[in-house]
Amino acid sequence: MSIVIAGTGSYVPEKILTNADLEKMVETSDEWIRTRTGIEERRIAEPGQASADLAYEAGCRALEAAGITGADLDTIIVATVTPNHVFPSNGCILQAKLGATKAFCFDVEAACSGLLYTLEIGRALLNMIPSRRYALVIGAEKLSCITDWSDRNTCVLFGDGAGAVVLEKTAETEDGRGIIATDIHSDGNYAEILKMPAGGSRIPATEQTVRDHLHFIKMEGRETFKLAVNAMVSAAKTVMVSAGVASSEIGVVIPHQANLRIINAVAQRLDVPEDRLFVNINKYGNTSAASIGICMDEAIRSGRVKRGDVMLLTTFGGGLTWGAALIRY
Ligand SMILES: CC(C)(COP(=O)(O)OP(=O)(O)OC[C@H]1O[C@@H](n2cnc3c(N)ncnc32)[C@H](O)[C@@H]1OP(=O)(O)O)[C@@H](O)C(=O)NCCC(=O)NCCS
Repeated sequence: MSIVIAGTGSYVPEKILTNADLEKMVETSDEWIRTRTGIEERRIAEPGQASADLAYEAGCRALEAAGITGADLDTIIVATVTPNHVFPSNGCILQAKLGATKAFCFDVEAACSGLLYTLEIGRALLNMIPSRRYALVIGAEKLSCITDWSDRNTCVLFGDGAGAVVLEKTAETEDGRGIIATDIHSDGNYAEILKMPAGGSRIPATEQTVRDHLHFIKMEGRETFKLAVNAMVSAAKTVMVSAGVASSEIGVVIPHQANLRIINAVAQRLDVPEDRLFVNINKYGNTSAASIGICMDEAIRSGRVKRGDVMLLTTFGGGLTWGAALIRY
């Protein structure tokens, strides 16, 4: 059996926060942000919009593209570091909204690698039981609510959004469509370089943790940058070697959108020309778990990726987590 992409969907909030807007909030400049990150603007959810609302919009679009309804789903998996609540999960909230009565639903926390993790988990869960056919996997983030808008080191980087994929288990297709190879890793030894310190059981929320800005993303940018490039390249090479797919056979490379300089360094080391590299960081910034899903959906809907084309996904995030996947669409 193969696990194929039956449909994709994405959603970004309407409100745009430009670099010029940020110039009024912190000591920064459009020129610095563009040259150091490639970001020009990002989307910000409304106060009443939570991450499950963004996930719902993306999920509906993916279901429509797949030609199925929530009732057809066997599982819903949401990757997020900004769930509506610690519990219940966004997965369960979506189940009710989508009428996915027979699905079992849960969330995955793998930071920016979340969507890739859910593709792997969704694939495994579908393969496990013969009667399972459809999995809806979604990366959805409202990072604006864990961004310290007084910290110029981080606030210029992040944005809100959601990307969704319907996975379907089918008999093997003649053109070999489906997930071809994956390579997924974690290294908790680097847990400290990218994190949100408070709000969990280690440092529960208090008035002091709020005053100390401990409910926001903290990051060692330079260290993260170096590790990201090496990890994304290594995972990408592993899936290419294990599948016997050369760089020239890949239609589109979709790297996690964290920094244009990271994306370009990865492409250069993988020998991927610019025209086969998918980039939308200029419009959305880093949307963490949503990033790869939004890119896949835009690449497919714009015709950059056509049926039969091979996509190479490669990602990196807090945890640390990283990985890559080769998928024939
Ligand atoms: C964060 C990041 C953009 C910073 O770029 P950098 O080239 O590494 O910049 P540095 O951290 O070396 O900082 C250079 C200077 O710019 C300053 N700076 C940082 N943010 C700034 C901003 N928004 N505007 C202007 N100056 C800024 C720093 O204070 C520093 O000044 P100093 O030299 O006087 O101390 C970059 O390190 C990065 O993208 N890292 C990876 C982040 C990431 O991907 N995180 C998520 C992983 S999924």
